[in-house]
Amino acid sequence: MLILKTVTVSALCTFAIAQAQDITQQVMSTEDYVDETTSHIPLRSLELGELNFIHTTDTHGWYGSHKSQTDYDADWGDFISFVRHFKDNRVHKNKLIKRDLLVIDTGDKHDGNGLTDATSPNGLEANDIFNSLDYDLLTLGNHELYSGERAVFEYYSTAMSSKFKERYVSSNVNFINEQGHEVPFGNKYRYFTTHYTRHRVLALSFMFNFRISNPRAKITPLAEEIKKQWFVELMEEYPPDKVDLLLVFGHMAATDRVEHEINTLHGTLREYYPNTVIQYFGGHSHIRDFVKLDDRATCLQSGRFSETIGFLSIDNLRSKHEKPNFFRRYIDFNNRSFKFHANTNNLSTKIGNYVTSKINLLRTILDLDHQFGIVPQTYYMMARPMDSEENIYNLFKSEILLTLNSSLTDSSISRMVMINTGAIRYDLYKGPFTKDSEYIVLPFENSWNYMTLPLKIASRIEQFLNQFPYILKTIPPPEITYNNNALMRGQSLYCPVIKNPEYTEGYTTFDDFGCDGDDTPHNTQTLYDVPNVIQSSELTSNDPESLIHFVFFSFLTADILEATNSIGADIIPGFQNYTSFDVANYGGQSAKQLLRDYIISIS
Ligand SMILES: *[C@@H]1O[C@H](CO)[C@@H](O)[C@H](O)[C@H]1NC(C)=O
Ligand SMILES: *[C@@H]1O[C@H](CO)[C@@H](O)[C@H](O)[C@H]1NC(C)=O
Ligand SMILES: *[C@@H]1O[C@H](CO)[C@@H](O)[C@H](O)[C@H]1NC(C)=O
Ligand SMILES: *[C@@H]1O[C@H](CO)[C@@H](O)[C@H](O)[C@H]1NC(C)=O
Ligand SMILES: [Zn+2]
Ligand SMILES: [Zn+2]
Repeated sequence: MLILKTVTVSALCTFAIAQAQDITQQVMSTEDYVDETTSHIPLRSLELGELNFIHTTDTHGWYGSHKSQTDYDADWGDFISFVRHFKDNRVHKNKLIKRDLLVIDTGDKHDGNGLTDATSPNGLEANDIFNSLDYDLLTLGNHELYSGERAVFEYYSTAMSSKFKERYVSSNVNFINEQGHEVPFGNKYRYFTTHYTRHRVLALSFMFNFRISNPRAKITPLAEEIKKQWFVELMEEYPPDKVDLLLVFGHMAATDRVEHEINTLHGTLREYYPNTVIQYFGGHSHIRDFVKLDDRATCLQSGRFSETIGFLSIDNLRSKHEKPNFFRRYIDFNNRSFKFHANTNNLSTKIGNYVTSKINLLRTILDLDHQFGIVPQTYYMMARPMDSEENIYNLFKSEILLTLNSSLTDSSISRMVMINTGAIRYDLYKGPFTKDSEYIVLPFENSWNYMTLPLKIASRIEQFLNQFPYILKTIPPPEITYNNNALMRGQSLYCPVIKNPEYTEGYTTFDDFGCDGDDTPHNTQTLYDVPNVIQSSELTSNDPESLIHFVFFSFLTADILEATNSIGADIIPGFQNYTSFDVANYGGQSAKQLLRDYIISIS
C-alpha cells in the first residue's frame, strides 16, 4: 500500500497512468447503485434581484462529487460550468436589466475527503481545483489553521495568489511571516463598486472565536477586533453615504446561541450604519440556515461538503421608501438543479470539463477509487436512532469493535471497547467502499489503551462521559455540537413532516423565511442526538467485582481517568485514584483497519 501523505503528486504522475486502467476494472460502476431518479418532481425556482450571490461554505475537499449520493453527484467542474451558464443565461440574459452576481466562499476547504486529505499539507493539490472558480470574495476557516504548515500554505497559495490577492479578506486573522511579523491574512476589508449596478460595497470577514495556538497565525476575537483603531477609522472613512451594501462574510455561524458573535457584530455595525442594508454569509456549523437580523439585514449559510449552493438576491437596495427585498434558495449540488437554475440543457463548458479531468486525474494519482469491498446498506450517523440497524454507531457497537484483536494481551478476557463518536465523520453509504470512503468516514489513525477495572467502575464510564460535553473539548470537529444546537431549534415543530413516496430523503430546511427554501423537495430527515462515546461489551460474568479490560482510544486517556476516579470516589470507600501507570497499550488494529476488514469480510 502506498503512503501518499508524504509523496508529492507530480512525482507519481507516470505511475498514475498505469493505475488508471486498473482502476476502471476494479471499481464497480456507480450506476449499479443509483437510486430511482426524481427528475419528474418540480424544483422550486429562484428570483433574481439587482444584486445576486452564490455562496459556498465548508466544502471540506468535496470537489469530486458524492459518488454514493445521487442528490449531490455533481463535481466542482460541473459547478464551475453552472456559474458560467447562470451568469450568461439568467443574470445578464436581458441586457436592459442591470444585475450583478458575486460568488463567495466562507472557508474550511479540507478535512473530510481524500482529494484534499491524502496529500500533505491537506489540500496541496486539490487547492488548485477549488481556486479554478472565479470567486469574488473568499476567506479562511478554522481548518485552514490547524497547523503552521497549513496556515503558510493557505496564505501563499490563495490569500497572496495573483488571482485572489484583491479578493481575499480576513478582518480578524493575522498571518505571522518568516520574520515573525504579524500581517493581515489577506485584506482586512475590501471596498469596491459592482460592475453593472454600480453598488458600492464594503466587505468584511470575521472568523468565529477559535482558540488554537498556531505559530504562523493569530486570531483576535471579533469583539476585540471591532474596538481596534483600524476598524473605527474604517467606519469613519466609509460613512453610510459612501456605502450601499455592507457585506460581511465569514467563518461564523448564522445562528449562534452560545457566543452570539454575529449579534455582537450586528449591534456595532448598526451604530455606524443605522439604515444601510447589511448582508451576512456564514459557515462553520454545517447547516442550511437563513436568519433575518432586522428589516434590512439577513444572513445566509449554505450547508457543508458541497451538497449545497446558497443563492441570495437583494432588490430595492437603495430605495429610501421601500424596504429591501431579500430572496434565498438552497440548491442541491447536482446537474439537474444546475441545469434548471442556469436554464440550459447542456451544462458542459470547456473550463468545467478541464476541472473535472483534473479532479479525475488527482483521484487516480491518489488511488482514491481503490475498492476494498461493498457496503450492503447505508449506515447513518444522525438520521437514524442510535439503536437502529441503519445506525453507524450501532454497527460499530454490535459488530466492528468486537473484531478488535489485541496483539499485546489476551483479547478473550471480558472487555469493553470505547470510542468517541466524533471519530466517525460521515454516513457510510451503500455502494463501493474505497480508499476515499475511509478518508470520508473514519479519517483518523488511532492506537488503543486499556485499564484493568472492576466491572462496577467500568460499567459506569459510558454514562459518566455522556453526561457532559467532555469529549467535545478535545476532539475535532467542533461542528457536530452545532449541528445538535440546530436540532434543538426544533425543525419539525414548525414545518410539516414531508413523507412522499416520490421524494428522496434530504434537507427540509426550516429558517426565518419558512419551510420552502430548498430547491428540491425532499422527505424530512429526522436527526437524532448522538452521545459523546459508545462502547461494545463482551462480558463473561456480571459480578460487579470481576475484573475486565476496559479498552479505549489512547487520546481519550485523560477523559477515562477522570471518569474512573470520579466514579471510584463515589462508590468505593477509601478509593485510591488510578493514574497513567494503570494504563497500558492494548495493541490491535486501528479503528480504520477494523472498518476496512469488516467491509472486506462481508463483501
Ligand atoms: C453532469 O454534467 C456533466 C456535463 O454535462 C457531465 O459530464 C457529467 O457526467 C454529469 N454528471 C452526472 C453525475 O450526471
Ligand atoms: C455542449 O456544450 C459543449 C461546450 O460548449 C459543446 O462542446 C458540446 O458539443 C455541447 N453538447 C451538445 C450535446 O450540444
Ligand atoms: C488474534 O491475533 C493473534 C496473534 O496476535 C492470532 O494468533 C489470532 O488468530 C487472532 N485472532 C483472531 C480472531 O483474529
Ligand atoms: C482523584 O481524581 C479526582 C478526579 O479526577 C480528582 O478530583 C482528585 O483530586 C484526585 N485525588 C487525588 C488525591 O489525586
Ligand atoms: Zn467546517
Ligand atoms: Zn469550521
